[in-house]
Amino acid sequence: MYKILKAEKLAEKIYLMDVLAPRVAKHCQPGQFVIVKMDEKGERIPLTICDYNREAGTITIVFQSIGASTTKMAELKEGDCFEDFVGPLGCASELVHEDIEELKKKKIVFIAGGVGTAPVYPQVKWLHEHGVDADVIIGAKNKDMLILEEPMREVAGNLYVTTDDGSYVRKGMGTDVLKDLVNNEGKKYDLCVAIGPLIMMKFVCLLTKELGIPTVVSMNPIMVDGTGMCGACRLQVGDEIKFACVDGPEFDGHKVDFDQAMKRQQMYKTEEGRAMLALTE
Ligand code: FES
Repeated sequence: MYKILKAEKLAEKIYLMDVLAPRVAKHCQPGQFVIVKMDEKGERIPLTICDYNREAGTITIVFQSIGASTTKMAELKEGDCFEDFVGPLGCASELVHEDIEELKKKKIVFIAGGVGTAPVYPQVKWLHEHGVDADVIIGAKNKDMLILEEPMREVAGNLYVTTDDGSYVRKGMGTDVLKDLVNNEGKKYDLCVAIGPLIMMKFVCLLTKELGIPTVVSMNPIMVDGTGMCGACRLQVGDEIKFACVDGPEFDGHKVDFDQAMKRQQMYKTEEGRAMLALTE
């Protein structure tokens, strides 16, 4: 059993939990994910790791209650336990494999959308701890949906916040901020990492293609069971077929077929759609 040491509501329907899982905490790297299961009959839920503390043996997860399982999960309190907490799974962010001195020469910008701020955080923190300060743009629907602003401020080189409705800091999307930084403030970036809803990552990639900035995206949003078995996370990357949970979750954003991924995500929501996919693949 894996004990919840802290349970906190970050925003409407967004929750943070610190879970005691020493083995996962010992080996995990930014970009990887875990699969949690509340009880024996519970659904397996893949969640990207938001933070880890190797000494304390804890993993921080952040999730949005969007279905029956995550809504039930949101009711768990400090002291409750997960039956299963499997990980670390998936490939670590490529950043952690790069030469630090080379990384220090690079200008990196992260764009986080909504709950995608959670998987961006450990990458920015890791870079900061290795002497690389990246720029970070966080976008949220409104002020109440904004998460992890303060922790992110502590590890980001520069933090830019934007809200769709203008209820906090500035009005607009993360792409508007990036456009401003590059076109009006003369910033130059060698790499962009975008994590958030598929539609957001699609538009970030369209923009960064135009601006000539190589871009990495995390396809965590299309995972269902996270095991390579269900087929939900199958996606086209260039001329290859990949599975987000096994080959990713991070991919070259300029090669990902987002339209196909969004269509599959929609179809996967219904039994009929899943049957259709099974017939056509
Ligand atoms: Fe099921 Fe990847 S999430 S195969």
